[in-house]
Amino acid sequence: MKTIHILIGVILMTVGLTGAQAGQPGVADKDLGLSKSTVFDTPSPEAFAYGEASPGSGNTLPRAYNGAPPQIPHSVKGFIPVTARSNTCVACHNNPAMWGQKAKGAPTPMPPSHYTDTRNAPGSVTKKLIGARFVCTQCHVPQANVEPLVDNTF
Ligand code: HEC
Ligand code: HEC
Repeated sequence: MKTIHILIGVILMTVGLTGAQAGQPGVADKDLGLSKSTVFDTPSPEAFAYGEASPGSGNTLPRAYNGAPPQIPHSVKGFIPVTARSNTCVACHNNPAMWGQKAKGAPTPMPPSHYTDTRNAPGSVTKKLIGARFVCTQCHVPQANVEPLVDNTF
């Protein structure tokens, strides 16, 4: 009995496969995603280098759009990854006393938004960096000279 069931199953599968082959050709896997290679490849990312300028060289980068997190204009060698125990960024950028008085070559003070708990107390600016802003590199990135994966008009 069991053998017959298996046999019928195999026959049906064969018929099914033949049917699929006879239909429209599928989309090639290399045409599916952003990576123009087959899904069986492990493409290596394009090599790039972050800027080498040390903090204090005084160059800032234009913002991508109004309200965008500014890109990090200096080298991040030794500063990343940001971890719970090690956040060098804060050592230089935590300076509420300097709000609104950025001096050339001095670290731009983190803005009041970074000291506002927008979830529990929106509108109330504190002098303590809010935990949600602790991992700077979640939003701020150094500039790398790479081609965009996808063109956009934003
Ligand atoms: C040794 C001090 C120092 C450290 C550490 C440091 N920075 Fe800076 N940063 C500066 C200075 C100084 C500037 C101002 C530009 C300049 O003069 O290079 C600056 C500029 C910036 C800016 C640009 C602000 C603007 O006005 O456009 C961002 C964003 C920034 N830093 C983020 C970071 C992050 C994130 C880290 C940690 C990964 C970090 N910085 C670590 C000193 C530092
Ligand atoms: C959740 C995203 C986010 C995180 C995390 C974050 N920032 Fe920002 N940051 C922004 C945005 C957005 C702006 C620009 C708008 C504003 O001023 O609030 C900004 C602005 C800044 C500026 C420029 C201030 C100015 O006056 O031009 C500095 C410097 C900065 N951030 C440093 C830091 C550092 C250092 C950390 C980590 C301790 C950090 N940020 C974490 C989103 C973030």
